[in-house]
Amino acid sequence: MKQLTSAQLREMFLKFMESKGCARIQSASVIPENDPTVLFTTAGMHPLVPYLMGAKHPAGTRLTDVQKCIRTGDIDDVGDPSHLTFFEMLGNFSFGDYFKHEAIAWSWEFLTEVVGLDPDRLYPSVYLEDDEAFDIWNKEIGIPADRIYRFGKEDNFWEHGAGPCGPCSEIYYDRGEKYGCGKPGCTVGCDCDRYMEIWNNVFTQFDNDGEGHYTELEQKNIDTGMGLERLASVVQDVDSIFDVDTLCALRNKVCELAHTEYKKDEEKDVSIRLITDHIRSATFMISDGIMPTNEGRGYVLRRLIRRAARHGRLLGIQGPFLVDL
Ligand code: ALA
Repeated sequence: MKQLTSAQLREMFLKFMESKGCARIQSASVIPENDPTVLFTTAGMHPLVPYLMGAKHPAGTRLTDVQKCIRTGDIDDVGDPSHLTFFEMLGNFSFGDYFKHEAIAWSWEFLTEVVGLDPDRLYPSVYLEDDEAFDIWNKEIGIPADRIYRFGKEDNFWEHGAGPCGPCSEIYYDRGEKYGCGKPGCTVGCDCDRYMEIWNNVFTQFDNDGEGHYTELEQKNIDTGMGLERLASVVQDVDSIFDVDTLCALRNKVCELAHTEYKKDEEKDVSIRLITDHIRSATFMISDGIMPTNEGRGYVLRRLIRRAARHGRLLGIQGPFLVDL
């Protein structure tokens, strides 16, 4: 596989989507501007909700971007090798323009031809009843039927409370046996670290009123999301997202300040990863105008800073150190 940095992958994605007619737009703030239902921008679609609902976007009906995202719902899991509270989401969008055929074909083309991932390690999944997406993967892309997985609502229907939502088709990458749980039946969809979901193509065609009532949207849309850090971990063939080039540089700086080494002591590694993650979130929150306070998003920021500071003490770092990171 090609050796690619996160910066190269980011640019390759945007250029590829531009070649498909998508206009490149800037990331929106991590403070949601168009979606009052969320505290932070947690996905590329949040800033684009009005356009998925039918408003006209000034840049057109095909967009691409890399959105800064904050997800703190599973903050207590941060410290393990796979959770981040801040990540970059690569995305392409259609507002009543291209739909399933193009979105699926482009995701496959980008991963296999542009990035050069081995097609035999990629597995698509579709929503249980979505025969159309199944047929596109099977007949148009040529994936054998037994390599396409059908999952239910919890895995293959994307929604975030009220608002635009729809069935989705994900692409999983087989990281190899060494990451597997070894249990009989371990396959795509298993909770272990072997099959990693890297891309989500959402066919945004419904509006959820927040009470579970779905109405068809007038326009059919595409909302996709691929975590840059996850993609980089696959492409760079490293053990975890904390080993990709960008996070690794920060992680090494934490080690330097703590006069310690990574992967020598599991308890210290938890602290090293937690600080590495939290300083990224805190920095992006502050640069988008959030200040530490006692409530709302300011409280989340305060909590991240306090947790990072405390884990610095656990590593034996004296004095203020977060500013150095
Ligand atoms: N909105 C979709 C996601 O976050 C693409 O997975």
